[in-house]
This record gives sequence, structure tokens and C-alpha cells, in this order.
Amino acid sequence: MKPVRVPVVAASTGRQAPVAPRAGGSTPPTLAALPPLALYVHVPWCVRKCPYCDFNSHAVPAGDALPEARYLDALARDLESSLPQVWGRRVHSVFIGGGTPSLLSAAGLDRLLADIRARLPLDPGAEITLEANPGTVEAARFAAYRASGVNRLSIGIQSFDARHLRALGRIHDGDESRRAAAIAREVFDNFNLDLMYALPGQTVAELERDLDAALSFAPPHLSVYHLTLEPNTVFAKYPPALPDDDAAADMQVRVEAVLGAAGYARYETSAYARPGARAAHNLNYWRFGDYLGIGAGAHGKISFPDRIVRTEKPRNPDTYMAACAAAEAGAAIGSVRAVATADLPFEFMMNALRLTEGVEARLFAERTGVPVARIAPILAAAAARGLVEHGPARIAPTARGRLFLNDLLQMFL
Ligand SMILES: C[S@@+](CC[C@H](N)C(=O)[O-])C[C@H]1O[C@@H](n2cnc3c(N)ncnc32)[C@H](O)[C@@H]1O
Ligand code: SF4
Repeated sequence: MKPVRVPVVAASTGRQAPVAPRAGGSTPPTLAALPPLALYVHVPWCVRKCPYCDFNSHAVPAGDALPEARYLDALARDLESSLPQVWGRRVHSVFIGGGTPSLLSAAGLDRLLADIRARLPLDPGAEITLEANPGTVEAARFAAYRASGVNRLSIGIQSFDARHLRALGRIHDGDESRRAAAIAREVFDNFNLDLMYALPGQTVAELERDLDAALSFAPPHLSVYHLTLEPNTVFAKYPPALPDDDAAADMQVRVEAVLGAAGYARYETSAYARPGARAAHNLNYWRFGDYLGIGAGAHGKISFPDRIVRTEKPRNPDTYMAACAAAEAGAAIGSVRAVATADLPFEFMMNALRLTEGVEARLFAERTGVPVARIAPILAAAAARGLVEHGPARIAPTARGRLFLNDLLQMFL
């Protein structure tokens, strides 16, 4: 078996769609209790489109301003029309992602959070994360975001090396990466730095320099992604020379060793945290929790006692804003489809098995409404191949299962 990478489950922006899984039977699910609820807000603009990126992000045309007020109106309408799906439920975390949400003005972000609070009961301790690009970081604006209620910043550093940043088509250089990380540290107690590895022409020594630079800012959390060539990107059309699979695997081993020695536990495929700093919002995705998704192209997952639905908003920002403006009060914007019961085991495992410690076994039935007995033969077969450990209390991937995650997941199709 070759180690095959499983795509990042960007739950909110839906980078992948499972096809025709069949393990769960066809009777409708029965959920005894609803899972925790989160809110994802998508901001679909960036200064420039990066050549490797397949997120729903669009370059702001040169000379144009972001249609911020119109977009915030649309988000408020979108949220209002989504409320009947989640009446009475509290929201435990908010993630404002993109695109580049740090393009929002301080006043715009303040209005967004006020609009959310006015419509949804937010847990008093809710984690509220905002994604930022180092090319858009200003200390005063970031302090204002914090004053409005953002309590976690996630910065797309990618690298501190000017040569690699240029190859990635980023809008910032290494100094701006460092400045952004320093501001994050100064303004926020809780922050994450995104890095990518296996970059064009990157050596292990260069990766180590990036890790050391990141660690010098003592981030509570680090996300370290293997750069992947995604379909319909500039890199897919004109692929750069990348480190081969063996070199990338060596880099992954180095990442885990260096960060482990610095006190960061790898708790998910790409996520590393100091004790107490795991990302609550992302953990909810990986534990198959619910999330309302608002904004252009945002995906959501909402459970009801007898069904689980997935929602998707129009991807194009103009189409999305027009749909929101035209929506009748209470009418759903975009698409809503019930997930087939047969697909639920795969969808659950695609998230849960990314977690190093796996999940409590009871969560499977609780979150999918499908009895665990339905997947017992698959779990037994996966255990026999050394890919999972499972007992009455927990279902978890083994080290081998994490390495061959695609093979493991295929078993649930
Ligand atoms: C929405 S972006 C983050 C914020 C901001 N847009 C930025 O790039 O600075 C989320 C993260 O996904 C990662 N990412 C995006 N495309 C990727 C790819 N093709 N392969 C691996 N990681 C990728 C990057 O680390 C990026 O920071
Ligand atoms: S800034 Fe982030 S979201 Fe925007 S194009 Fe680049 S990687 Fe994608």
C-alpha cells in the first residue's frame, strides 16, 4: 500500500464529495440527541488568487473596493433564513474563514458579530476565530477585531522563506510573515499559524527553518499542511516540481518530531496543539458535530431527530448576494439535501479517523443515528489489517491506519 493523502476536510467549504458509499443501510437514522452546533461564515475575497488554492475565493478586481455593506446585508439575510433549521440551539463556536476575512474593516467585522449575536444564542465562552492573510495585517485593526469579540486568530503564514512564498504566489514576503505572527502574539492569547510543506524545491533543512521560525512566536496551535495539487488550480495546469512522496513523507516525520519536542501534540492529520489549545471549532467538525454555514459557497450540516441534511450556498459572490436579497423571509437560500443513511458511516469516519485519539465509540450511533452493529464487520476487518483499534469505549486509527488513511476509509464505502 502506498501512503495516500486524504484531502483536507474543509467542512465549511466542501473540498470533497464522497461518492455512493453503502455501509449504513437505508432505514432513516434515529438521533436520540442533537450534537453541538457551530457557525461558519465564509468571506469569498482575496487580494489575489494563489495558484494552488481551490477554496471558494475570488480576487478583488484591482481598483475595486470590497462590496462589504452589501455582503454583510446578505450574510444577515442568510442567517435569518437559516434560523428555522436550528431554533433554540446554542452556538458553541464561530469560524470566520475564507478567502481572506481580514479584508473586512473593523466596523464591518463588528457589525457581523453584532448581527450574529442578535440572531443566535452564542455560548458565553464560544471560540470565535478569524482567518487572516499576513499581507492584510494591521495591529490597530486586529486590536479592534479582538475588542469586537474575536478571541482566536488563524494566520495563513505558509512559509517564512521569501523564495518559497514567491513560488506559492503569496502577496507577502518573509518579513511580513514574521510581522503578522508577532502581531498575532501581541494582540491574541490564542492563535494559530498555518504552514505548508513539500513546497516547490523545498529541502528538509528549509522546512526546519520554517518550523523554528514559527516556534519562535510560541503559537498555541499550528496547522501544517502537505501542499497538494488541487484540480482546477493554476498549479494543477502548470505543476511545479515538488518533493516526491518519499521526501514529503520524511518531511512529515520531521514536522511531527520537531513540534513534538517543542510540546505540540499532533491531534489530527495536520493539526498540532499545546495542551488546552486544540481548535474547538475544528474538533466539532471531526467529531461529526453540526454547523450552520453562511456566506458564498458555505457548506453546512444540520441534524434533526430523523435526518441529517447538508446545505450549500451559491458559490459565486454576486449570485449569492442576489439570492439573499431576493429571498422571501424564512425561505432557504441555496440547496438543502438529506444525507442518505448509507453514506453516514463513511461521512462520520472521514472526519473521526483524522483524529489521532479517534472518538468515543458511542458517538457513532449518537451522531449518525445508525447502530454501531451495522459497521462492526468493517471495524473487525480494519482491526485485522492493523488499521484501527476499537473496543466498547473508543474507535481510533492506529499509526498504520493514519498513514494509510485512504485505504482505511475505502473500507467504509
Ligand atoms: C482559507 S486558507 C487561510 C487564510 C488565508 N486565505 C491565507 O491563505 O492566508 C486556509 C489554509 O489552507 C491551506 N491550503 C490552501 N490550499 C492548500 C493546498 N492546495 N494544499 C495544502 N494546503 C492548502 C493553507 O495553509 C491556508 O492557510
Ligand atoms: S489567500 Fe488563502 S484563500 Fe485566498 S487564494 Fe490564497 S490560499 Fe486561497
